[in-house]
Amino acid sequence: MPTQSAAQAKTTATLDCDGKSIALPVVKGTESEVAVDIEKLRAQTGMIKLDPGYGNTGSCKSAITFIDGEKGVLRYRGYPIEELAQGSTFLEVAWLLINGELPTRAELAGFINEVTHHTMLHENFNRFFEALPKDAHPMPVCAAAVGALTTFYQQPETEQSTHETWVRLIAKMPTIAASSYKHSIGQPSIYPDNRLEYTSNFMRMMFATPCEEYDVDPVLARAVDLLFILHADHEQNCSTSTVRMVGSSRANLFASISAGISALWGPLHGGANQEVIEMLERIATEEGSADRFVAKAKDKNDTTRLMGFGHRVYKSYDPRAAILKKACNDVLKRVGGSSRLLDIAMRLEELALKDDYFVSRKLYPNVDFYSGIIYKALGIPINMFTVMFVIGRLPGWVAHWLEMRRDPDFRIARPRQVYVGPTMRAYQPIEMRGGRV
Ligand code: CMC
Repeated sequence: MPTQSAAQAKTTATLDCDGKSIALPVVKGTESEVAVDIEKLRAQTGMIKLDPGYGNTGSCKSAITFIDGEKGVLRYRGYPIEELAQGSTFLEVAWLLINGELPTRAELAGFINEVTHHTMLHENFNRFFEALPKDAHPMPVCAAAVGALTTFYQQPETEQSTHETWVRLIAKMPTIAASSYKHSIGQPSIYPDNRLEYTSNFMRMMFATPCEEYDVDPVLARAVDLLFILHADHEQNCSTSTVRMVGSSRANLFASISAGISALWGPLHGGANQEVIEMLERIATEEGSADRFVAKAKDKNDTTRLMGFGHRVYKSYDPRAAILKKACNDVLKRVGGSSRLLDIAMRLEELALKDDYFVSRKLYPNVDFYSGIIYKALGIPINMFTVMFVIGRLPGWVAHWLEMRRDPDFRIARPRQVYVGPTMRAYQPIEMRGGRV
């Protein structure tokens, strides 16, 4: 179904303050979400709105992804995530997010061909990786490498060069990710093999060595592709908002995506998948019991959180977690690995879902709760988990950057603040401030 533009409802909201009353327009989205448009608030009243963490703030109108957090609904361009997970591939979803429609056969073939022929990195990148410490975490390495891509492609921004930039990003990100991993274990980077499809190519670059080939199991490659699809977009989350924020200054796409990678690294955002597996391993070895860990997560005097639980938007089961829970079983069956961590995760979930602390706060498993178990079963090292998220989220970041830059009303993002520091005071020269030298 074609995207409808957000309709302007006839209603208005009234704000009363200091005996003054102003009418604010109410905007309605295509899924009946309602927002009070306060664009003129400061001009009309001198006031601003205060909303730390932006929990009640719509920063833009967007036609890319719809989430109903109460009902556990996620759709890309109108298509339910469950149907895309079942029937599509990651590159198909990338095209959908960026271009707005599912590709035809010819469009998809053309896109795959384009991506396949941009997978290599400039040879100078070898020296770039060599210059970094041996034990560098692959996330900042990826952020730096994507920032550095700008220096190789410095042409002015046009429709054509922007298209080439996002194709290059999608094509090169698996190569950058795998090279950052190879660097961290002291192995030479493996060149892409353009005979392989996107995800298999990535897995080979991760696991082959100059001495030994790696035969990609198509079932496992499909599991990784599924993970990429589930991570591909999630509307105005922290990293996507960062990409939009940086891009709003007219910074280029490479620079904006590099900033998004840095935002994603944090443990409350993309870094949670690494924290989940570390938590499960701690429970398996030290903590001893899932019950004790859940008690710690509930204790207000303890900073422990049940990682992979809770979400700013989902107040019911994250639909991506439901898909991944099933995929976990399939992958573990295929690799014949131990299901110890999955057992602990399911026990944690069982305890939390019947505990009033989690139920009353509407804390359910999120996408990161089960993804780490799959990555671990596939042999992906823990410090690469968030990098996997980067590869998946990239098309979403690109789609949002393009949507923002093509919006005729786009302005530089520049929030305000309520100042709570000292009021004006006179400067004192250093001699008058006391203290010994
Ligand atoms: N374990 C224990 N208590 C929790 C948890 C948790 N995982 N999450 C939230 N709470 C409690 C929190 O202590 C607070 O309690 P109270 O009302 O008594 O103060 C209440 O629930 C609300 O929490 P909040 O931190 O105000 O909620 P938020 O919307 O600001 O944070 C969140 C959302 C995802 C950062 C948070 O739930 C969290 O830290 N979860 C663990 C980290 C995680 O799994 N992150 C991945 C998110 S999904 C992927 C992504 O977006 O990248």
